[in-house]
Amino acid sequence: MPTLPVSPSISDAVAELRRGRLLAIPTETVYGLAADAKNPAAVRRIFELKGRPSDHPLIVHIADAAQLPEWAIDIPEAAYRLAETFWPGPLTLILNKHPEVPDAVTGGQDTIGLRCPDNALTLQLLREFNGGLAAPSANRFGRISPTTADHVRAEFGEDAPMILDGGACRVGIESTIVDLSRTPARILREGHIRRDQLLPFLPGLLAGTGAESPRVSGSLQAHYAPQTPMRLRSRHEIENDSETDSVLLALDSLPHGRLGLALPSRANEYAQGLYAALRTLDAMAAGCIWLERTPEDPDWLAVNDRIRRAVAGSG
Ligand code: TXA
Ligand code: MG
Repeated sequence: MPTLPVSPSISDAVAELRRGRLLAIPTETVYGLAADAKNPAAVRRIFELKGRPSDHPLIVHIADAAQLPEWAIDIPEAAYRLAETFWPGPLTLILNKHPEVPDAVTGGQDTIGLRCPDNALTLQLLREFNGGLAAPSANRFGRISPTTADHVRAEFGEDAPMILDGGACRVGIESTIVDLSRTPARILREGHIRRDQLLPFLPGLLAGTGAESPRVSGSLQAHYAPQTPMRLRSRHEIENDSETDSVLLALDSLPHGRLGLALPSRANEYAQGLYAALRTLDAMAAGCIWLERTPEDPDWLAVNDRIRRAVAGSG
């Protein structure tokens, strides 16, 4: 019988990081591929394993806001107020970087992304490690982010790092990224935390990347993508078209006789299941994945953003 993989203890995980090795970590958003952010050789291994261009900056994960001055300078008061309100949680703050942050982490930019993830295991790990963890999502470049330990194993196969198994991710899509290094602040990536929640702290907050915005690989037009071609379809089109070689990601319920999956029609629940559903549908090796159109509603901004990029990058 095959043995089930066992999650390492926190002290084994800390030891792995201290040796300069990679460790997959659970967060509330998606699993991360982590390395000691102060060890440039370890950080370079992240880029090698992901196949990610080395000038794409990484987010550094920290245990709490008290660590901000170790990683950033010119920290505005709003950063602390946001951290108080939303950390631990799915919000990444872009700030001017501290001169001692290795260039490998920031892709040579003078800003840094920082967040405190809301996962009990990873928070304990961060406290025992007593440092920062540079971690992108634990998937190969451009592919679907993992929301379970099994997804990480499937993504990297024999090359998979040690994985701290924290179960399925609660939020399911990547953190909201807000750039505080310029005024007015700007949302660089939509996420679970919405613009209207941030506005009281950041008057004039902009949304959508501007022409001069720094590199955000999650902002590439094609990203988070399955290998099977994906198409958006209305419920009406789905019910009136009998193309046989497609599988379907439906809202609420799968129409009778169709192959595929349905996700709840509330945005947060849909987000939680989206990436696992795309992986399952991709593995069905159909000619095409049809996605039932989701509502064009402020609640759905982050989900619709991920769907758009997945469609653009699919196939
Ligand atoms: O929820 C998340 O944010 C997950 C978990 C693991 O924390 N992480 C994640 O990392 O999604 P990644 O690398 O897949 O996406 C982080 C995004 C990238 O698009 C990167 O370019 C952007 O953050 N980023 C990091 N540092 C930045 C900076 N200094 N300026 C602008 N964008 C930055
Ligand atoms: Mg990613």
